[in-house]
Amino acid sequence: MAQLASKYTIVELVAEDIDAIIEIEKVAFIAPWPKEVFEMEFKNNRAYNIVCVDNTGILVGYCLSWLIYDEIHILKVAVHESCQNQGLGRSMIEDTLEYFIAKGANHAILEVRLDNHSAIGLYEKLGFESIRIRKNYYRETNEDALVMMLDIEENFRTEAKK
Ligand SMILES: CC(C)(COP(=O)(O)OP(=O)(O)OC[C@H]1O[C@@H](n2cnc3c(N)ncnc32)[C@H](O)[C@@H]1OP(=O)(O)O)[C@@H](O)C(=O)NCCC(=O)NCCS
Repeated sequence: MAQLASKYTIVELVAEDIDAIIEIEKVAFIAPWPKEVFEMEFKNNRAYNIVCVDNTGILVGYCLSWLIYDEIHILKVAVHESCQNQGLGRSMIEDTLEYFIAKGANHAILEVRLDNHSAIGLYEKLGFESIRIRKNYYRETNEDALVMMLDIEENFRTEAKK
């Protein structure tokens, strides 16, 4: 996993984290998920849900994902505005990939808004490649999604491999 500043730790999500996640979610996304969706994901046994906390216990980011057969689906990743560009998003995705690689995953897939340059930049850095456009994927704005895929064997780039 990318070197995480000692101030931060990545741990699995617990039910008590959901309110803090919602606060970040409301700022980070045009169509934030309601609390019930996070509660459902928390109970989903094919999910791996993690949060990043600082050394005072404040939740500063989260990443939700599933494993379906050998394919990792990154559902959501977000970092509090005040903590972005410090490698936290990258560390959470790397942690997720490594968790599922140990369970036999060989590729990962996600959707991202075409104009979300920071997220696309992060995914490319990890080795994800654009594979197609899903038209009108984001219903609330009729925006298209870019579908990105990572072939883990071929392209997964950790800090060590960079
Ligand atoms: C996308 C997001 C999770 C990235 O988290 P982050 O912790 O700021 O990202 P990191 O610091 O780990 O960035 C890692 C890499 O991403 C790339 N990146 C980050 N911001 C970028 C930008 N504005 N433009 C291009 N690339 C960018 C860089 O390549 C960076 O690597 P570097 O530090 O070696 O240059 C964060 O911006 C966020 O929460 N955005 C709002 C929610 C969102 O859009 N989530 C993704 C859609 S599901």
